[in-house]
Amino acid sequence: MKVPLLVGNWKMYGTESEAGTLTQNIVKGLKRLRRVEVAIAPPFTSLNAVRRAARGSPIQLAAQDVHWETEGAFTGEVSPRMLREAGCRFVIVGHSERRRLFHESDQTVAQKLLASLREGLRPILCVGETLQERRSGTTARVIGRQLRIALKGVANRDIKKIEIAYEPVWAIGTGRHATSEQVSSVHNRIRRILETSFASKTIEPVRILYGGSVRPENADELAQTPGVDGVLVGGASLKAEGFLDIIRRFALVLTLTR
Ligand code: PGA
Repeated sequence: MKVPLLVGNWKMYGTESEAGTLTQNIVKGLKRLRRVEVAIAPPFTSLNAVRRAARGSPIQLAAQDVHWETEGAFTGEVSPRMLREAGCRFVIVGHSERRRLFHESDQTVAQKLLASLREGLRPILCVGETLQERRSGTTARVIGRQLRIALKGVANRDIKKIEIAYEPVWAIGTGRHATSEQVSSVHNRIRRILETSFASKTIEPVRILYGGSVRPENADELAQTPGVDGVLVGGASLKAEGFLDIIRRFALVLTLTR
């Protein structure tokens, strides 16, 4: 059985001191929680504050984005090596907000993913369709393309170091989450695509997360959905109680059902 991973993506919310306080509150509520992995992806300026506040707790550090070079004249960018030294274990790559608002291509996402792996970071690769793509019946094709390009240069031995997050664009920040059937069907599809590119033994440990309007109210349903190995939580991770509630529900469902 895979240990589920729950990631809080704080996007561009919170100053350094706010991030420290929020982390402390999450840490307090996490006591005695077993069998789940928790990570927080704060803005770059708060990585250190979260690291300090999370010391001695099970919370792991994640970055929201990364550049693919180790260093260079790339104003505004942060490299995998910098993130590693800042204490990150995970890095989100290809989030739909980056693809849509900052014009990241599938090729750029691939470069970021490979560079992260080289530095020993665990990429959380985001894929997902827009509402228009879902309506026109191209969901599977879009996700297939995003995955194949992003994972093209990944060796069999490295696929287990990657998490994949299915994040339908129409569900992000809208309060409208995908149904259990929709999630299950895309997660199955993702596994099938992985099977065509990697040895089946090597993909077994790969965790597939769901993201998009995850809330305490839908956490039970998601936790019970076959093929969901965790969640990527945006808005609801900005309040300690909300995020803790989601984490507890996942832990409970797993204890009862798996
Ligand atoms: P949301 O964001 O939970 O606020 O919908 C999810 C995400 O962008 O990862």
